[in-house]
Amino acid sequence: MPSDLLEHARDAKGFMPEDEGALLHRIALERLPHGPALEVGTYCGKSGIYLGAAAQQVTAATGTTAVVFTVDHHRGSEENQAGWEHHDASVVDPELGLMDTLGEFRRNIARAGLEDHVIAIVGQSTSVAAHWRTPLSLLFIDGGHGEQPARDDFAGWAHWVDAGGYLAIHDVFPDPADGGRPPYELIYLPALASGAFTEVEAVGSLRVLQRTSGAAGDPLA
Ligand SMILES: C[S@@+](CC[C@H](N)C(=O)[O-])C[C@H]1O[C@@H](n2cnc3c(N)ncnc32)[C@H](O)[C@@H]1O
Repeated sequence: MPSDLLEHARDAKGFMPEDEGALLHRIALERLPHGPALEVGTYCGKSGIYLGAAAQQVTAATGTTAVVFTVDHHRGSEENQAGWEHHDASVVDPELGLMDTLGEFRRNIARAGLEDHVIAIVGQSTSVAAHWRTPLSLLFIDGGHGEQPARDDFAGWAHWVDAGGYLAIHDVFPDPADGGRPPYELIYLPALASGAFTEVEAVGSLRVLQRTSGAAGDPLA
């Protein structure tokens, strides 16, 4: 990770520890020459900077623009709302009284010089997934951590990972004492149970699975 971009990632608001960000950056460097990556859960772009840094490096090395799509409605997850643990009043739209992380995301990506590589898709993950048709070299799921969003993100996105591509999942906690269950029970375990993915790396709560059977678009069991 180039040191200037690491500084930008450190400065951005968000929920991506540095060692897990370094893993995201490394797997993106490996996979982006094969096609686009997609992140579910942009927030203010912290993880997007790790992914976008890799896209910028791959572009310089190959001469073909590498991109990371990042999907978020920018209204925050349940745990980001007022009164919850991860609320940040500085990203509330004063007129609407709703969370709005899009402006902060745009500033962070512009400051980092990554606007050509990190492409925001603003909307509900389920609505975007319903129209998505593009094979993914890397899918990073870090969206809503409740049961329904986790179920929806697995059902809507995981089958778009191409053969050999990676499915990275954040906040996977096998021990309930460490954190919430949905990413573990409703994304990580079903991905392994489908027989299409094999775990290849883990750092902190970040798990990386590789698609070892089937191809993008094939339904998962
Ligand atoms: C844990 S945060 C993402 C953190 C980010 N990856 C980082 O590095 O800081 C989860 C994000 O998912 C978004 N989100 C939650 N449910 C969503 C849904 N159904 N559709 C789109 N975005 C959603 C929230 O708005 C929030 O910004």
